[in-house]
Amino acid sequence: MYDYYLGGTEATPVDQAAAEQVLAAAPQVRVAVRENRQFLDRVVTHLAALGIRQFLDLGSGLPTQRNVHELLPPGARVVYVDYDPHVVDRSRTLLADVDNATCLLGDVRELDAILDGCELDLSRPVGVLMLAVLNFVGDEDDPAGLLTALRPRLAEGSHLAVSHGAREDADLVEGIQSRYQRASGQAVLRTREEVLGLLAGWRVEPPGVVYGAQWPHASADPGTRLTFAVLCRP
Ligand SMILES: C[S@@+](CC[C@H](N)C(=O)[O-])C[C@H]1O[C@@H](n2cnc3c(N)ncnc32)[C@H](O)[C@@H]1O
Repeated sequence: MYDYYLGGTEATPVDQAAAEQVLAAAPQVRVAVRENRQFLDRVVTHLAALGIRQFLDLGSGLPTQRNVHELLPPGARVVYVDYDPHVVDRSRTLLADVDNATCLLGDVRELDAILDGCELDLSRPVGVLMLAVLNFVGDEDDPAGLLTALRPRLAEGSHLAVSHGAREDADLVEGIQSRYQRASGQAVLRTREEVLGLLAGWRVEPPGVVYGAQWPHASADPGTRLTFAVLCRP
């Protein structure tokens, strides 16, 4: 569905139909996913400029659009992780000739297993990306607890970038959540305060939790206001 929103060609007819249902309720989603990808571009470029050379992209989706490995300087690498076996198989095919990226099957609700198996050097800084993935982790799976447990596993200098579907306009939220419920399981949109609440104990970098289109300049045009973005440190 996400690839379809982005104008890709990977979605099955069933995915396309489900994505069209979401777009019927919220046409802005197509722009919001672009805002999210542009946030990815800016935040990865920022972290690479800070000297981070290893990235862990959790809930990476298909590497069909301008992706993390294409943004990295020489010597840096990324491990993509997704819990959808089709996404992982297809990613491995697409990345067959790419030497700075690998893809693992893993569930962000089992972060320790991912960290133990990702073959990154956790004694050195890691840029962890959780973009548009925590909005598929319901409160029953304790996303704040998952992030609390992640903190001590990361070396000083590591960063966590999060983007998250925004719960602001009640009608829009109901339209999106109900269509995801029918298509692929739950989507949990959260308020700015709820997103900040997931990051309890993390040191949130300026400008804090802003709309995706605004990061890192809170005064920039807020765009669709459908996603939040934030960068923090353990
Ligand atoms: C909306 S896409 C986001 C892709 C990419 N991170 C981005 O922001 O452009 C969400 C991806 O997260 C994956 N996902 C959802 N829940 C997950 C979980 N519990 N563990 C790992 N991946 C998950 C989905 O399979 C999907 O590929």
